[in-house]
Amino acid sequence: MLSIAIEAAQQAGKFLKRSLGNVREIEQKSGEEKNLVTEIDRRSEKLIIDIIRKHYPNHDILAEESGRMGQASEYKWIIDPLDGTTNFTHGFPVFCVSIALERNGVIVLGVIYDPNFDELFTAEKGKGAYLNNKRVRVSQIDFLARSLLVTGFPYNITENPGHAIEHFVNFLMKAQAVRRMGSAAIDLAYTAAGRYEGFWEVALNPWDMAAGVLLVEEAGGKVTDFAGHPFSIYKKDVLATNSVIHDQMMKILERVSEEK
Ligand code: IPD
Ligand code: CA
Ligand code: CA
Repeated sequence: MLSIAIEAAQQAGKFLKRSLGNVREIEQKSGEEKNLVTEIDRRSEKLIIDIIRKHYPNHDILAEESGRMGQASEYKWIIDPLDGTTNFTHGFPVFCVSIALERNGVIVLGVIYDPNFDELFTAEKGKGAYLNNKRVRVSQIDFLARSLLVTGFPYNITENPGHAIEHFVNFLMKAQAVRRMGSAAIDLAYTAAGRYEGFWEVALNPWDMAAGVLLVEEAGGKVTDFAGHPFSIYKKDVLATNSVIHDQMMKILERVSEEK
């Protein structure tokens, strides 16, 4: 199953790279002015689903653009065919494909492919996290002031859901630096690879996070919601860290809730 996920992610990723700069149709998703979808998102998703279906016709699928497909099965594939659509529509080469597999509700496999750097991040439950077949681990930096953090903003940022703006400002003051790349899956993959010490975001969807959270956990990191409760991809907020700065980040996230 890992090799099928890799094949699908790489084929779709290469298609995305070839299509960069050739986007013809850009639509706004219903009710969300900033949330875009292109024909490239849809074609990438079809390409991935066709490969999975060919090998596993009876598996359940949850894909961003098509929703829930297939039948109830012990296996469910969770697919983001293009994570970083806004970047993509601007020709900004930070985007990827994310594919995960759930077995009886537990994520057992995750693949993120970044075609721009030709970086393939893979993880299987209990077997570690890998970047281009080399084992990766989270960083060991244990102090927020020396940490490079990353976040993303939801499409309805003007409503400031979950105090996203205050959190960003508070982390800017405490961390070494904060980045905002525009692809939650890449943010999680980089946290797993030790490039970031921590990532937080509100209002994400299962397909943004499913592969990435397994990568972070398999690389020795920690993933919870903002309050430190056990994480689920069906919840909206995520705090994923190298584990050692987890409590320090949680304290900053708590601050806003206490002030309000
Ligand atoms: C988006 C990206 C972005 C995050 C958004 C997501 P999309 O996914 O992951 O980094 O901030 O919340 O929706 O729409 O490009 O697949
Ligand atoms: Ca996404
Ligand atoms: Ca997407």
